[in-house]
Amino acid sequence: MVRPDTTVSPLPHARWWRAGVVQAVSPPGVIDLGPGYLEPGLLPVDEVLPLYAEALTEFGPAALGYGANAGADPLRALLAARHGCAAEEIMVTAGTSQALTLLCTVLGRPGRSVVVERTCYDLGRSIMTDHGLRLREVDADGEGVRPRSLDRALSLGDDVAFVYLTPTFHNPTGTVAGEQRRRELLAVAARHGVPIVEDDAYGELNLDRPAPPPSLAALAGRRGVIRLGSFAKTLGPGLRLGWLEAEPGVVGTLTGRGQLVSGGSLNHLTSLAVAMLMGDGRYDLRLSWLRDQLRLRRDTLVAALRAGLGDSVTVDRPAGGYFVWLAFDPRRSEASLLDAAGRAGVAVAPGSRFGSAAGTHLRLAYSLNSPDRLADAAVRLATAWRNEETLR
Ligand SMILES: Cc1ncc(COP(=O)(O)O)c(C=O)c1O
Repeated sequence: MVRPDTTVSPLPHARWWRAGVVQAVSPPGVIDLGPGYLEPGLLPVDEVLPLYAEALTEFGPAALGYGANAGADPLRALLAARHGCAAEEIMVTAGTSQALTLLCTVLGRPGRSVVVERTCYDLGRSIMTDHGLRLREVDADGEGVRPRSLDRALSLGDDVAFVYLTPTFHNPTGTVAGEQRRRELLAVAARHGVPIVEDDAYGELNLDRPAPPPSLAALAGRRGVIRLGSFAKTLGPGLRLGWLEAEPGVVGTLTGRGQLVSGGSLNHLTSLAVAMLMGDGRYDLRLSWLRDQLRLRRDTLVAALRAGLGDSVTVDRPAGGYFVWLAFDPRRSEASLLDAAGRAGVAVAPGSRFGSAAGTHLRLAYSLNSPDRLADAAVRLATAWRNEETLR
């Protein structure tokens, strides 16, 4: 197979990044700040290529057998050491989406409710509503969910299957809950006896110091918390690999489900391949490189937006993750802002997609384009939005 020459073309992977092979490809000429994807050039093709050979050499036919239901021990042990828990508290998953699906089937029954933030990951919402779960929305502030609001929502009835939270580098708002806030949320959920599902898809992508506080799962010793981690945002979503942390009894219940008993560990060979990467420090090197790349992109986009838009828009600078959340004058119409961006050749995500946030917002991903293209996009957006001053 001929590998692309990464030194000449500004978009070296364009040839490989094909519609029908990957989920979405933006039309030519459009700078796409919409999806939470990594720029093709940030995906670790060269690092991943040898891992499968290494795993097959190390484990031989066991790499091609049905994997242990909770995941192969080598990866469970590495994840346990990394996240400060016991291997029995780890289950290997096929990513956060799959883990959330499994939890909806185990914890939920159609008609039960899930407590979610008024504004949160849109596709997580779909997974829950696909299972017939009802979303009970709670208010958030600059640190995520307000404990009082959570308490009120949990006092409304005992039909709540779980609380779905993203306390670290929230999608779409980028917020991080401080340790005190985390402890308060844990106390409220524990008082009501309702489990928390902590979606930590971006948890390892801190771009600033200090690092975020310990996860809810770590603070609670995993009691009453199920934390979902993923390699989708740090390595590549095509690996379809993640893990969850939970009490051993919960891991036992989940791994006793028919899907796992029938098919064994989800994504067994890939889990062994990624264990090779984690086992000798290559994963940490990759992470530190990726954080540098994302920091450069975040800083470029935020600086260019602030320079171009001045005080007319609030441009939050997230401490990690993939997204910048823009807050406009609430009298401005989301549809006309989106149209103006589209005419300028930039795609962005409408805030309304993520729920009922007060006011007018847009989400911009800095993960999918080079710094030069992000700077270009910011100039185009600032010009387009300055010229489109229509108020509702
Ligand atoms: C908050 C959040 N959770 C989960 C996911 C999906 O994770 P995975 O690819 O591991 O299924 C995403 C991806 O956009 C996300 O933003």
